[in-house]
Amino acid sequence: MSYPATRLRRMRHDAFSRTLMRETVLTPGDLIMVAFVCEGSDRSEPVASMPGVARLSIDRLETLAAECVAAGIPALALFPAPGDGVKSEDAREAWNPEGLMQRAIRVLKRAHPELGLIGDVALDPYTTHGQDGLIDEHGYVMNEPTIVALTRQALAQAAAGIDFVAPSDMMDGRIGAIRAALEQAGHIHTRILAYSAKYASSFYGPFRDAVGSAGHLGKGGKHTYQMDIGNSDEALREVELDIAEGADAVMVKPGLPYLDVLYRVKQRFGMPTFVYQVSGEYAMLKAAAQHGWLDEKAVVLETLTAFKRAGADAILSYYALDAARWLRAG
Ligand code: PBG
Repeated sequence: MSYPATRLRRMRHDAFSRTLMRETVLTPGDLIMVAFVCEGSDRSEPVASMPGVARLSIDRLETLAAECVAAGIPALALFPAPGDGVKSEDAREAWNPEGLMQRAIRVLKRAHPELGLIGDVALDPYTTHGQDGLIDEHGYVMNEPTIVALTRQALAQAAAGIDFVAPSDMMDGRIGAIRAALEQAGHIHTRILAYSAKYASSFYGPFRDAVGSAGHLGKGGKHTYQMDIGNSDEALREVELDIAEGADAVMVKPGLPYLDVLYRVKQRFGMPTFVYQVSGEYAMLKAAAQHGWLDEKAVVLETLTAFKRAGADAILSYYALDAARWLRAG
C-alpha cells in the first residue's frame, strides 16, 4: 500500500493551520443591515413571516442604527412601509419631501452621520397595485413614465441626505436617468447601488408582507421586468448596462440560490458587487432554527461566508446585526 505525499488533512489537523490557510474571513464590515420603517412613535410591528424582524417607527430605527454602529456594521438599507392611506396610482408619496422615508433619512443621518444609508428606489410601497412602477390600462408597467417617477424619488432621497440610492425596480435605462438627474442637482457624491440582476423570485414573499405590497399584485407578478430565474447570461448584460450608465456598485438578488450569478458578475466586471440575502432566505433559516432543526448561528455565518467566498464585497441581510454580534463575540 502506498501513501500520498500530499495529504490535505495535514493543514486541517490543528486550529492554527486552519486559521492560517482560511481564504475567506467574514467581518462585520462586510454586512449591511436591512430595516423597515413605519409611521408612529415607539412602534415595533412584528412581521409575521419574518420572526425577529419588525417594522420600526423612526425613533426605534434610531436605536437600531446605534446598535449597527456599535457592532461595526458600515451601512443600513432602508425600506418604507407606509400606511395604505398614502398609496396611489401614481405613487406621488414616494417623492414627498415630508414623506416617511425622507423624514427617516434626515433623522438617521443627523444621529449617525458615519452610518452609510441606502435608500430603496422603487414604487411598490407607494402604489395601490403593488407594482414597482406605473401601469397602463392593461396593467403593464410602463418604462419611461416609471423612470420619471423613480428619478423624482431618488432626488427626494438625495435631498434628504441619503448616501446610496438603490433602484430595485428593473426598468431599462433608469440608472443613467437617475445619475444624470443627481449630477444636475449637484448631488455628485450620492452613490448608486443598482439592483442589476434582480430575479422574479418567489423568495420575496415575506418582504411583500412587510411593506404591504402583496395584496393587489395581479397574476402577472413582476415577470415583465424582473429576470427569469433560469438565466445568467442575461444577468451579465444587465450588469454591463448599469455600469455603463453610471452605477457605483451592482447587486445580485436573491442570494444563496444565485451564487453562480454572483460569481460570474464579480469575475467578469470586478465591480463592487453586493448580494441580498432576501426575506425568504431569512424566513427559511429562521423557521428551521426555531424548530431546532438547524444551529442558527452556525448556518447564518456559513451562508454569509459563502456569499463572500463567491465574490460579494458586501451582503445585505436581515441577520446582519445578529451576525456582527456573533462575530464580535468570537
Ligand atoms: C421591491 C423590492 C422587493 C425586495 C426589495 N425591493 C420585492 C419585490 O421585488 O417584490 C425584496 C427583498 C426581500 O425579499 O427581502 N422594489
